[in-house]
Amino acid sequence: MDEEELTLPADTLQILNDFLQEKAQREREELDRIENQAGTEAMFEEDWQLSQFWYSESTKQALGNVIRKLLAEQESKADKLSYRIALLSCPSLYGTVKQVHGNVKIFEFDKRFSVYGDDFVFYDFNSADENGYLEEYKDTFDIIVADPPFLSEECIMKISKIIKKLQKSSTKIIFCSGAIVEPWLTQSLQLKKCSFEPAHERNLGNEFVSYANFELDNYVHT
Ligand SMILES: C[S@@+](CC[C@H](N)C(=O)[O-])C[C@H]1O[C@@H](n2cnc3c(N)ncnc32)[C@H](O)[C@@H]1O
Repeated sequence: MDEEELTLPADTLQILNDFLQEKAQREREELDRIENQAGTEAMFEEDWQLSQFWYSESTKQALGNVIRKLLAEQESKADKLSYRIALLSCPSLYGTVKQVHGNVKIFEFDKRFSVYGDDFVFYDFNSADENGYLEEYKDTFDIIVADPPFLSEECIMKISKIIKKLQKSSTKIIFCSGAIVEPWLTQSLQLKKCSFEPAHERNLGNEFVSYANFELDNYVHT
């Protein structure tokens, strides 16, 4: 085959290049989608010492949709791009939320989740009272979803303190925990109990509910 046969006209070459780039992009997206779907539970077994109970797929989808709708309410493209999401101690949500919005941090104690690179922030709720703890994230996030490891007053109050640091005045907070923590949460963060009940892959013994500082149920059911 001589060289002439291999040479394509410039416009045809451009079409071919565009096609190949789009194909590569689609393949990358598909790979990301599969990796995200395989998700936390496939990669990480629950560690019951750390009180890990992963959400069911329908709960992950429901919370992902709530976040999608909150994001859609942002008026300008710039507002959407600068929107920041923090997941506190709910790593199984990461894959679903990351598909909805790129700007998401997962605050976790379990260092296995450092596979999420710059999106992973190591934290320990026990350090909440330390001077300047997580100061670099002060007034940063527009949505915070939290699911603390324990149902004790101490744990709820310390996570609440961390949320207060991370939140802005307009931040939407979703807090998933046991029904018994309600008095502490209404006191510390003025959250209201919602009807939405997060479900887990394995049934938990205690009654598990959600709390929010906005009408979460409206977003779950529309
Ligand atoms: C009840 S689970 C919530 C998991 C959530 N349902 C999910 O599906 O991702 C509590 C989470 O708190 C994390 N955790 C355990 N000890 C912690 C600590 N000292 N500080 C912060 N998070 C901790 C666990 O690793 C676990 O991911």
